[in-house]
Amino acid sequence: MEVIELFSSLISNKLMNSKIYEDLSSTIKGIILAVATAIDLRDNYTHTHSKNVSNLSVKIGKELGFNDSFLEELEIAALLHDVGKIGIPDEILNKPSRLTDDEYKIIQSHTIIGAKLLSEIDFLSKNIPLGALEHHEKLDGTGYPYNKKDGEISLFGKILAVVDIYDALTAKRIYKEPWPKEKVLKILKEDCPKKFDCEIVRALEKCVSIQKGD
Ligand SMILES: [Fe+2]
Repeated sequence: MEVIELFSSLISNKLMNSKIYEDLSSTIKGIILAVATAIDLRDNYTHTHSKNVSNLSVKIGKELGFNDSFLEELEIAALLHDVGKIGIPDEILNKPSRLTDDEYKIIQSHTIIGAKLLSEIDFLSKNIPLGALEHHEKLDGTGYPYNKKDGEISLFGKILAVVDIYDALTAKRIYKEPWPKEKVLKILKEDCPKKFDCEIVRALEKCVSIQKGD
C-alpha cells in the first residue's frame, strides 16, 4: 500500500515522464498481482482467479465502451476484489466441512475488510474499494454484506459480481471439476435482471465466446 501511495504522489506531482510512468505503472501492477495471487493461493481458488477476473472484467468494460482510465481502475479493482481475505483466518477460509452461521458471517466480512484497506489509500479512486465491498451484492438485495439493491450498487460491483461467479464456476477447484462455460452463462442469463445486470452478462457472453482456444 505504501508503494502505491508513493507512486501516486509522484504522478500527481508530475515528476515522471511517460516512459518512467509506464515502467513504474507496470511494476506497481506486478506488485498488486503478486498480492492478489498470494490471496488466491490461501483460498481454494486457482492461483489465477484474481488475474482471470481482472482480464475478463477489462474485456467486458471495453465491450461496454468505457474509456481507458475507467478500464485501468477496473483492472486494479478486479485484481484486489478479494484482498480482504487477508483478514480471514485460514481455518475458516479453508474449512472443509460446512460453515456455521458465525463462520459464514466472518467469510462475508472479507468485503468490508477489503474496502476498508483500499479506502485507506488516499489516491485510489473510490470505485476500487467499492468493487471489493460490492462484488457479492445482487440486484435483488439477496447478496452481502449489505443486501444492497440495483440502484445502490456501483458499476464496478455489478461487473465484478458477474465475472467473479463466472470464473469461480468455470475454473477447476480442489473439490469440483470446471463447469462448461455454456452452463455457467445459462445460469447467469436466467438470473438476470433479477440478480445480475443483463447488459454486463450479454457483454460477458460476447467476450468469452470469442476467447482464443474455446
Ligand atoms: Fe469475494
